[in-house]
Amino acid sequence: MQNRIQIFDTTLRDGEQVPGCGLSKKEKLHIGTALQSLGVDVIEAGFPVSSPGDFESVKLLSAELRDVSICALSRAVKKDIECAAEALKGAAKPRIHTGLGTSDQHVFTKLKISKKQVIERAIEAVSYARNFVDDVEFYAEDAGRTSNEFLAQVVEAAIKAGATVVNIPDTTGYCLPQEYGKKIKFLVDNVSNIDKAIISTHCHNDLGLATANSIEAVINGARQIECTINGIGERAGNTALEEVVMILRKHHWLNYDTGIKSEKLFPMSKMVSETMNMAVQPNKAIVGANAFSHSSGIHQDGVIKNKENYEIIDPYEVGVNKSSIILTARSGRAALNFRLGELDIFLGKEELEDTYKKFLELADSIKVVEDNDLQYLVKEYATVSK
Ligand code: KIV
Ligand code: ZN
Repeated sequence: MQNRIQIFDTTLRDGEQVPGCGLSKKEKLHIGTALQSLGVDVIEAGFPVSSPGDFESVKLLSAELRDVSICALSRAVKKDIECAAEALKGAAKPRIHTGLGTSDQHVFTKLKISKKQVIERAIEAVSYARNFVDDVEFYAEDAGRTSNEFLAQVVEAAIKAGATVVNIPDTTGYCLPQEYGKKIKFLVDNVSNIDKAIISTHCHNDLGLATANSIEAVINGARQIECTINGIGERAGNTALEEVVMILRKHHWLNYDTGIKSEKLFPMSKMVSETMNMAVQPNKAIVGANAFSHSSGIHQDGVIKNKENYEIIDPYEVGVNKSSIILTARSGRAALNFRLGELDIFLGKEELEDTYKKFLELADSIKVVEDNDLQYLVKEYATVSK
């Protein structure tokens, strides 16, 4: 029996906080509709009190997307919670996400209150939000730098006040995977009412550890992952949805399962990148342009013999048509011959040898040898083709 991991997508809230990537309500609906058919469990649609436009976006997604939970962010402040509740009124499955900072850094230099007041405000916010909706998620901002003992007290109080989900954000992307995993395990072992709520992971990527931390949290008892498409988000971004989904899928022996339709991952990534005008780095895991490209001779030869020599994911599984062999000065005869064959050009041994020499000269002078370059190189053998 597989453990079901909830996928909480925050592309439209934390992701949209990227400078220059703000979305209109029509664009949010466009992406939200695709996220619903991708199979996410929760869409964090926005932060309604932040602007009238975001309020309207949350309202629109609440009215239109009926097969997914719609979540709205609020601080632990009554007017934020009221505003979130109002925006979510039409939702089939509304969730309010409320909370405050719990680390010494946040408590003493940002909120400037006592730790006792943090617990009081957590209780007040969660119980107030429960007047409006049945599903309330509490976040302990900067949980990554919060002492485990204090975090356990806050989480226990939030659950007692009615939180259905407790979010443990590594807001600053500071934690090491073992440390973050231990934090989750500490909550599982020390919060008396933890079985009444789902533990959620929310990791930022400042040290490039967001994905590793999210997986470590799941292994230690978290049952919801907060993430964004392409890992977009504040600063270095959030956990990338496509990465955690494919890790759990590829390591199925771990016995975790998500509801994501993986073949929609690549089109989803493309849509977010185009709508938000934010390019995906070519070497990005799962959805980058080079994720299924092979360019060195040794790898190309291996892939031509059997794809699994160098591919752990079938590109079809994530919605990419096929892997590609890129011809460069590092390519060997096998790759050249393979590509020529795909172009219906079949050369004898000597012709191939001669073409390979010309190919290397050309490849040393240009970065990538394209199909039209190949056609040019073999033009004198046109008659022997096929
Ligand atoms: O990173 C964070 O702590 C957040 C919270 C508001 C959930 O985004
Ligand atoms: Zn965040």
